[in-house]
Amino acid sequence: MIISEQISVIRETVSDWKRQGLTVGFVPTMGNLHQGHLTLIREAKTRADKVVASIFVNPMQFNNAADLDNYPRTLDDDCRALANEATDLVFCPTPEIMYPKGLAQQTQVSVPGVADILEGAMRPGHFTGVATVVSMLFNIVQPDVACFGEKDFQQLAVIRTMTQDLCLPIEIIGVPTVREQDGLAMSSRNGYLTEAERQLAPKLAHVMGDILKQLAAGENNFTQMIESASNRLNEHGFKTDSIDICDAATLNPVSKETKQAVVLMAAFLGQARLIDNGVVDLQ
Ligand code: PAJ
Repeated sequence: MIISEQISVIRETVSDWKRQGLTVGFVPTMGNLHQGHLTLIREAKTRADKVVASIFVNPMQFNNAADLDNYPRTLDDDCRALANEATDLVFCPTPEIMYPKGLAQQTQVSVPGVADILEGAMRPGHFTGVATVVSMLFNIVQPDVACFGEKDFQQLAVIRTMTQDLCLPIEIIGVPTVREQDGLAMSSRNGYLTEAERQLAPKLAHVMGDILKQLAAGENNFTQMIESASNRLNEHGFKTDSIDICDAATLNPVSKETKQAVVLMAAFLGQARLIDNGVVDLQ
């Protein structure tokens, strides 16, 4: 496995593969890897001859400096885990390599519409930071296929829209959320939970599961479902941040045309802001 922070090394290695007629799969990450990330690597391996991972804690997508500083950085462990999955190449640049002129002078990629609603409305600039860094990484790595988790449902929608709108010749694959045995969606942020909070955390997935069941049964009083779910979470020690029920294809409000709905949940548990989502067919 080649590990490099240099753009030129990534370009040369990938061009060499392409000259040999090999296809390239790509998994962008911010590191602190868990089985969710490694599942994306395995998925990429089934879809391409060579697999590239990137590890870069992208300052452009963070809304506050403390969150950026505190983000867990575990590069050595991450590289060991990637080597175990037979990853071929790891790109782990510094912020100076990615943003030599600083963030203020960086060209940005914004995706109006899908990036401005829901999570995007609560975290202004977040999805512009994501779309900008992912388009830079796409240009550096030039993959044929790239894998993203459904765990970050809106992020996946932003990436799909950007790829389509900018005519990027890259197939975007969405990979189902990988969960702990008790249902908690795997996340680097779970490391912020105390032991007691960790015991409570799966409640988020359970409450979401109940909303999905109600929707599947034809329940359509969304306001009431959301309010009662929010109350249940708060009773269990969470501070509910948002619960939304949207059209899974567009992320717009559910309409008569909606075939599948997505339930998007965000709640604080202690210091950690946990997110989860689930999709259900409507009757
Ligand atoms: P990060 O949070 O490290 O996640 C990297 C990828 O792993 C994303 O596609 C995310 O959706 C996926 N992922 C995380 N937890 C998962 C789980 N439990 N099951 C399945 N997939 C999971 O998302 C980012 O980094 C960044 O925004 C990035 C796209 C790298 C741009 O900076």
